[in-house]
Amino acid sequence: MRGLTILFCLSLSAGALAAGTAEQAGGNPKAATTVNPVKPTPQSIAKGKQAFNKACRHCHGSGGKGDGPLAPTNPPPADLTDATWDHGSTDGEIFAIIANGIGGKSEMKGLKSELTPTDIWNIVNFLRSIGPTS
Ligand code: HEC
Repeated sequence: MRGLTILFCLSLSAGALAAGTAEQAGGNPKAATTVNPVKPTPQSIAKGKQAFNKACRHCHGSGGKGDGPLAPTNPPPADLTDATWDHGSTDGEIFAIIANGIGGKSEMKGLKSELTPTDIWNIVNFLRSIGPTS
């Protein structure tokens, strides 16, 4: 009986581990399919920059490099101008991070109570304008 319980626990934790790994490696496959409905016009980018300055600059820095005056240190805010997107690089995935946050203990909290969906898409378009396009 004891042996059986141990076996059961082992298979449970193996399943949990596998699920965790898949999530980290794949970004957010569901959000990745969301199409950005806002065209990256100069107006959208300008509005995105404004919203970024209000909601993100104090942590991510005015250039998006992760060097804002109130930047947490462990981990520091991501550099939003490099080609590395730990949580997915599509517009839809970036939207989901801004709206819902990274989760767990991350300092990157969801901002959907402060920003409208259009604000968030404008920010995505602004980030594309200061970083790599894909
Ligand atoms: C309180 C500070 C803080 C604020 C405000 C903040 N962020 Fe972050 N952000 C972080 C930190 C810290 C990380 C890295 C978190 C981690 O890896 O757990 C991060 C990560 C991210 C990522 C993931 C980058 C990647 O490589 O996958 C994106 C995208 C992002 N932030 C965008 C934004 C945007 C856009 C705003 C404003 C709407 C914003 N953040 C506001 C601290 C902040």
